[in-house]
Amino acid sequence: MNDETEIGHSGRKRVERGSGNKPKEPTRTFVLVPWLKSRPKGEGKSPRSPESRLDEAVGLAAAIALDVVGSAVIPLATPRPATLFGQGKVEELKGQLAELRVELVVVDGPLGPGQQRNLEKAWNLKVLDRTGLILEIFGERAGTREGTLQVELAHLNYQKTRLVRSWTHLERQRGGFGFLGGPGETQIEADRRLIQERIAKLEHQLETVKRTRELHRKKRREAPYPVVALVGYTNAGKSTLFNRLTEAGVFAENLLFATLDPTMRALVLPSGRKIILSDTVGFISELPTHLVAAFRATLEEVLEAEVILHVRDAAHEETALQKKDVEQVLASLGVTKESATAGGQHIVDVLNKIDLLDEEGAAAVNAASREPLSVAVSALTGQGVDDLLKLIDSLIVDDERGVTLDIPAGEGEAMAWLHANAHVRKREDGEDGIVHLEIGMTPMMTGRFEKRFPALARRLGEAAIDKIEAVE
Ligand code: GTP
Repeated sequence: MNDETEIGHSGRKRVERGSGNKPKEPTRTFVLVPWLKSRPKGEGKSPRSPESRLDEAVGLAAAIALDVVGSAVIPLATPRPATLFGQGKVEELKGQLAELRVELVVVDGPLGPGQQRNLEKAWNLKVLDRTGLILEIFGERAGTREGTLQVELAHLNYQKTRLVRSWTHLERQRGGFGFLGGPGETQIEADRRLIQERIAKLEHQLETVKRTRELHRKKRREAPYPVVALVGYTNAGKSTLFNRLTEAGVFAENLLFATLDPTMRALVLPSGRKIILSDTVGFISELPTHLVAAFRATLEEVLEAEVILHVRDAAHEETALQKKDVEQVLASLGVTKESATAGGQHIVDVLNKIDLLDEEGAAAVNAASREPLSVAVSALTGQGVDDLLKLIDSLIVDDERGVTLDIPAGEGEAMAWLHANAHVRKREDGEDGIVHLEIGMTPMMTGRFEKRFPALARRLGEAAIDKIEAVE
């Protein structure tokens, strides 16, 4: 590797999501990847290549509409406590940054508050580290009110220790950029107090929102449609696939979903079954642990999804590492292969971007997609998308088990729930006021029924599958 590797801006086109306020003039940004030549014992060497780290960081910066005018990998022998980089390197970069009229430097790694401040002083511009960048992205993408509040709270806590001349969240409009503009140094004390007040207020609002949200979730749980959630490493193609799937499927009536955020759509599968498709924020490696709470709020749907579509960039050289990262984040949320199997959830490997592969690569991916829970697609060209829809269909339909239930005729609420959430295949009204039902229901829905109607659930029995007639 060269002493300093320049990699230009990838200029990747992004799929628009949400409606963030875009600044009029995109901020001129330089991305730096510090590359430790030898890591302290126990930390292990990152298996990723510096070039791919740089490419990812540039992509992330571009994703929130920063104008990346340059980027570099900076090899480091030892990190310096004051400025991370050595004095000579800081000086050298200063000239380069000034020449390019850079307004913001993104350092793809953690910076202490002191380091950040010192670099800002040395270069006379704003500096953002990886956590700060991820917070900005979360802030822009958080689809729900709760997610937005969580992210803002994480942002404020992060920022409390980092108040510097040019870097204050209080200037931030929701959807805007926290690091643009800001008051002078004399303001810092006042800002700190204001931040503390804002934190208290946010915590209070979060409580209220959580309560409302719990009500909404309850309502949604009653909705008859299983949830299919898209997860995946950043840039894997989730949004593209989300759009493609909602185009391919027929939109279900959306009235019911007035309370859903824009990253959710109801759609009809080829079999006529309806599902809710839910997009999520992209996963990122080395997610700082204190961000996981904010992350979790944006991922709530995943935990309750019947089917999780793990969208992968099959054409990326580090696709296996990315898969591991995603699995790690899922595990931190409590979703593993084992928990999925036990809870009646399915995790599908969606090998995306096959259009980018050469013959040999495509053959390998096609072979991998013959595994039972795998499918190869191109969200861009639409190739394989019908197969994916069919697979989702089969998972949801196959999942139905036959159950029998004897319930008193007066249990109107339970009866309505069953009609909405399951297939009632057969009904016999006994003379003793007991209704005998034969029902097709997914294990997940059975679990929900048990939670909601514990007294009745004791009467659930197993029906002989062959006795259950075809879906009406
Ligand atoms: P995050 O928002 O970062 O989580 O990304 P994402 O997973 O939602 O990815 P997105 O859909 O934004 O796609 C990222 C880039 O990959 C875009 O430039 C897409 O056009 C491109 N892309 C997505 N799917 C395909 C595909 O099947 N083939 C090709 N060639 N490009 C694709």
